[in-house]
Amino acid sequence: MEELKNYINSIRRDFAGKLLDENHINKNPFTQFQVWFEEAVNAQILDPYAMSVATVGKDLQPSVRLVYMRDISEKGFVFYTNYDSRKAQDIAFNNKVALNFFWVEVERQIRVEGIVQKVSPVDSDIYFNNRPRESQIGAWASAQSSTISSRQELEQKVMELTNYYKDKPIPRPKNWGGYLVEPSKIEFWQGRPNRLHDRLVYTRNENKDWKITRIAP
Ligand SMILES: Cc1cc2nc3c(=O)[nH]c(=O)nc-3n(C[C@H](O)[C@H](O)[C@H](O)COP(=O)(O)O)c2cc1C
Repeated sequence: MEELKNYINSIRRDFAGKLLDENHINKNPFTQFQVWFEEAVNAQILDPYAMSVATVGKDLQPSVRLVYMRDISEKGFVFYTNYDSRKAQDIAFNNKVALNFFWVEVERQIRVEGIVQKVSPVDSDIYFNNRPRESQIGAWASAQSSTISSRQELEQKVMELTNYYKDKPIPRPKNWGGYLVEPSKIEFWQGRPNRLHDRLVYTRNENKDWKITRIAP
């Protein structure tokens, strides 16, 4: 542990930093997201659509995990998961969530806050039907977030389901589908030298217009 601590404290990476300023940022945060996302793709970042989702459930204990963003529009960010999972239970109690994207290669972070709701069953069906069969089986086999006796139990279930659905289409489990995160706040963070980073925050007002403010790094 001591060695690890020394290692962590010995690294102080400065950010070379492109700048992010009010004159070059798009008025619409989704367009700005798209610009940054394309730059992340061009920088060949692995999994740029991986995002952390933070939830707070009944016990008021924050919980965070990575998921894949699978759709984005002016409505918000969509991910797919199990509707009985820990995150889903948290969301059923409290529909306020936060997202975080971190793209180290371009020294950028995007933070999102908002409310979440299930996407329509039709949209979940469309997405589910396009998944590889192995992932479809996985959705049936895994009671996500529940305790299991062993890995073998899971693999056994996968085998049984694979046999059961042999040559048959696999329907979407009713407890599996999408969530849409509708943002009320989106922050674009650009790493800059000497920790003087740029932070521009879009906040949505009552008329659904976006206001941009700069906050201190
Ligand atoms: C890069 C990455 C992508 C992931 N994508 C998803 C996803 O799209 N949906 C999902 O349910 N879990 C995904 N997971 C697994 C989740 O991080 C998490 O383990 C799972 O959803 C259970 O979380 P919960 O118990 O808090 O509900 C992903 C994990 C990683 C590391």
